[in-house]
Formats: sequence, C-alpha cells, structure tokens
Amino acid sequence: MSKTNVAVFVSGSGTNLQAVIDSGIESANIAVVVCDTPGVMAIERAKKHGIPVELVNSRDFRSREEFERQIVAKIDGYDIGLVVLAGFMRIFTPYFIGCFRDRIINIHPSLLPSFPGTNSVRQALDYGVKQTGCTVHFVSEEVDAGPVILQAVVPVTGEDTEETLLEKVHAQEYRILPEAIRLFCEGKLTLSGRKVLISS
Ligand code: GAR
Repeated sequence: MSKTNVAVFVSGSGTNLQAVIDSGIESANIAVVVCDTPGVMAIERAKKHGIPVELVNSRDFRSREEFERQIVAKIDGYDIGLVVLAGFMRIFTPYFIGCFRDRIINIHPSLLPSFPGTNSVRQALDYGVKQTGCTVHFVSEEVDAGPVILQAVVPVTGEDTEETLLEKVHAQEYRILPEAIRLFCEGKLTLSGRKVLISS
C-alpha cells in the first residue's frame, strides 16, 4: 500500500501524537513532527520513535505569517500530503491554510460547534451539558469551524471534575484521530460543501 507522508503539529504533551504513532496506520508515514514550543514532551515522544522534529518557535518571529513561512520552508522537503494538528495551539492565517488546502485536520476536545476555542472541557463542565466529546475536522479559515470528519460522544456525570472528564475525552481522541488519518490516507474522505462523505 502506498503511504501518505503526514506532518503532525504539536505544542505540548503529545499524547495524541503518541496515539497516532501507536496506531501504526498502514497508509500513513509520520514523516515529521513540527513543534512551536521548546522543551515539551511531544518532542521526546517523536525522537524516541526516530521521527524528525522541526522546532519553529513562534516567539522568534514578528508576525504569524513569517512564522508560518518558516514552517512551510522546513517541511518543504518531506512531500507532505496531510497536516495533522494534534494539540497545536496556534491559529493559522489564510496563507498557511492555502498552502495545504483541504489537507489540514485538527482534533478538538468538544462536540463542535459547541465550545470552540480554548479550555473546551472546562467550558462544557461549567455549562452543565450532559454530553460532550471530541471532533476531528478539516481546518478552514474560520477557527474550529471546518467540515466535521468524525465525532465521539462522552457522557458527563454529576461526579465529573475537569480532570476526569478530560481523561474520558482524551480516550476518545486517541481513537478517532488515528481513524480520521487512516480514512484520509486511504482516500475515503470526500468534501461536499461543508459535509464530509466517508466511503467504506
Ligand atoms: C488535546 O486534548 C486536543 O484536543 C487539544 O489539546 C490537547 C492536546 O493534548 N486541542 C485543542 O484544544 C485545540 N483547540 P496532547 O498534546 O496530549 O495530545
């Protein structure tokens, strides 16, 4: 089976990156990990598995677009077919999105369009919803608003704290993010307006 070269973008602990690595998706080659924050655990995880890491520190750039141009230059040689945002805490400008149009996916810890932005698990708990979850979606110019690929539901109980709920949401993320990557790399996702059709 031919493999799609995947770039995984991270900013923190990288547990989703670990889940993607551990899934061993046959149709995907994790060609490079891009990180915007020095010293985070995600870098160690990539190195442990022999995956090249490109560290591009956003603080070294005067504008978001300059930062993104540096990332694009760094990953230019990897022949990337899919960009996966796995806990990457930066918002892209139209420049970067245009470079990888319909080839960027993101994992978000809520059932979008509910609770976009940051601290989504806390937001869900504070709102009092009875169900939350996570979403894998294509990235478009609007933040957390691109076409939905997969979602998973997590029930919220009266006993849940932010910590317990986060753990349950994470468990679902580790399942649906690798699954979405597999579907993309096997050519099973088709965009139709804002809908994503999944073929079997
Ligand atoms: C994940 O829960 C992911 O959904 C979230 O960051 C976490 C990263 O954890 N992403 C966002 O909130 C994006 N808006 P990880 O570094 O351990 O994979």
